[in-house]
Amino acid sequence: MPHKPFKAVIPAAGLGTRFLPATKAMPKEMLPVVDKPAIQYVVEEATQAGISDILIIIGRNKNALSNHFDSVPELETNLEKKGDTDRLAKVQQSSDLADIHFVRQGEPKGLGHAVLRARSHVGDNPFAVLLGDDLIDDRDPLLTKMLEEHERTGAAIVALMEVDPAHIHMYGVASVEEGSEDGVVKVTGLVEKPKAEDAPSNLAIIGRYVLSPAVFDILERTEPGKGGEIQLTDALQELAADPDGPGVYGVVFRGRRYDTGDRVDYIKAIVQLAADREDLGPDLRPWFKEFAATL
Ligand code: UTP
Repeated sequence: MPHKPFKAVIPAAGLGTRFLPATKAMPKEMLPVVDKPAIQYVVEEATQAGISDILIIIGRNKNALSNHFDSVPELETNLEKKGDTDRLAKVQQSSDLADIHFVRQGEPKGLGHAVLRARSHVGDNPFAVLLGDDLIDDRDPLLTKMLEEHERTGAAIVALMEVDPAHIHMYGVASVEEGSEDGVVKVTGLVEKPKAEDAPSNLAIIGRYVLSPAVFDILERTEPGKGGEIQLTDALQELAADPDGPGVYGVVFRGRRYDTGDRVDYIKAIVQLAADREDLGPDLRPWFKEFAATL
């Protein structure tokens, strides 16, 4: 039987408290990274991996997100009249990217709760979860490998990255079996936001998951965990602990990743991506050098 196509779910309903007051009236996923909102990079990543059906989980400031992926006829007519074809193409690109749907998470009760809101849209399909504030540099592809691993094993797949022990308390952390093949490890346990001294490893889950719809039944009964939120990590721990199921595997990522929900990482993302761009880099790089020399 042919494999059912993957859908993508992008949770973007968090409160974004680390970025207040910028996120008072705007989701953090709409913060611009150079000249595109963070979430557009994430949608592009999903489409580049071949996923065309995308569900965005939206919270209280939903309009900015849905407007961004809609067409804006008056703006397009204006650019057309001016003959500004480059900008017209950019504006149209964000509305033509994929088949984008939205569902509301009434209250931000946690990432697990946000993912559960995708249940009826996802149906019987396998699906990828991409956090809307977590950017993976498109020069270091990750998602395609995760989709392939899911097709091969039927397991839940998480993206793992080695992080500094000083930051481990901000992540879900995996214990893994020794000996990995090709950067893929078997996950034996998961714990959400442990203290550095309790962390089972320095392998943190970063914002990419590939799951089968079986996870929804687990999420339905997952009680609030760390921070009083329903945690996706807790549901995945149940899958990892099930001796009869396909388990959980981690794809270890060593590329460039930016957590744009964190102010320092957000600034690094803009600096790095702008410096590397052909249209902006030549003007910026000499200035960065000069500026760095003054520090
Ligand atoms: P974060 O923990 O980074 O988001 O959630 P947050 O709660 O908005 O961050 P701060 O700490 O207050 O600044 C990871 C991802 O999960 C989404 C967020 O939008 C983000 O993309 N999320 C989180 C939801 O969609 N719903 C939730 O209830 C919680």
